[in-house]
Amino acid sequence: MLMAMCSQLGTSHSWTPTQCHLNAPTKTFQKAKTTHSMPPEKKEIFKSLESWVSERVLPLAKPVEECWQPHDFLPNSTLPSDEFIDQVNDLRDRTAGLPDEYLAVLVGNMITEEALPTYQSYLNNMDGGVADETGASNNPWAIWSRSWTAEENRHGDLLKTYLYLTGRVDMQMVEKTIQYLIGAGMDIGTENNPYMGFVYTSFQERATFVSDGCLARLARERGDRVLSCICGTIAADEKRHEIAYERIVEKLLEVDPTETMIAISKILSGHITMPGHLMHDGRDPHLFSHFSAVAQRIGVYTVSDYINNLEFLIRQWRLEKIEGLTSEGKHAQEVVCGHVARIRRLQERADERVQKMRPTFSWISNKKKVLMFEKS
Ligand SMILES: [Fe+2]
Ligand SMILES: [Fe+2]
Repeated sequence: MLMAMCSQLGTSHSWTPTQCHLNAPTKTFQKAKTTHSMPPEKKEIFKSLESWVSERVLPLAKPVEECWQPHDFLPNSTLPSDEFIDQVNDLRDRTAGLPDEYLAVLVGNMITEEALPTYQSYLNNMDGGVADETGASNNPWAIWSRSWTAEENRHGDLLKTYLYLTGRVDMQMVEKTIQYLIGAGMDIGTENNPYMGFVYTSFQERATFVSDGCLARLARERGDRVLSCICGTIAADEKRHEIAYERIVEKLLEVDPTETMIAISKILSGHITMPGHLMHDGRDPHLFSHFSAVAQRIGVYTVSDYINNLEFLIRQWRLEKIEGLTSEGKHAQEVVCGHVARIRRLQERADERVQKMRPTFSWISNKKKVLMFEKS
């Protein structure tokens, strides 16, 4: 899961850390938060879906023996030293042609992946009996969330090691940013509500799939076929996860259309806060906005992608055709189905704004300024 949000749309929360240490309050804004918004009787719905999850969702988690592992893509550390060093040198030759801006976006994605403890906590804070009550529960919802976490864990591991070996990244600043981010958590407003939570994760997995696919293409264009393969392989995982979460929402639309439509409307028609939004490196108070802006400018994740993802989900879940809704559900349906047309108008303004931004990143080693990204 990842990815940079459209803070370029101008609706994101900006924040300034008051002090740069973990115990300091990490945000200056506070607003009243709704929590545990799901009516308790809805728990029965999630209980009734347990066998369906076993049949239709768990097969989307790959058995460990069939999974790739980070070391498959990295210099082989079991080789004799000189052969290992040769492989590291090959990696450094391949990555020499990657623009700094590309590296900065890849680092930002990797840091977001590395905040995985936050996302597993997020799943386990959902109501409805979908959380892992014991830490090793046999409930199919819990089995899925642990399997998902275990698969996701490889993404940050692989990207972080690869970036370390390039020699082009200030790993201490990267590691500090990861520690800050996990310490800060995330505040995405899904109210411990599994209806909203699974809509959110559907969107996030798709966003990550799209951005990783783009990173794969750009790496290939710049001559690093291994990195291209890495990003493409991670994108394939994200796609599988996207399918799982979309399938859950599709099923919820079938069994409880009104509650699900309201949740979809609340998430997709609102400001979708991204999981790494509290990213901080101890230096740049607008780090996440800067990361998002560069991701947008080099085309890894753009406002257009954001809007396309909304459109995709509206189509995927056939939201315009859902029937059996109460008046509240019908209102939610109208709002979400009309949302994309409304925000398309903001796209041009957002594009203009990011074109002017030239942030620097502490993550990039020995560089005063992030170089312009030029298409080959
Ligand atoms: Fe993911
Ligand atoms: Fe991931």
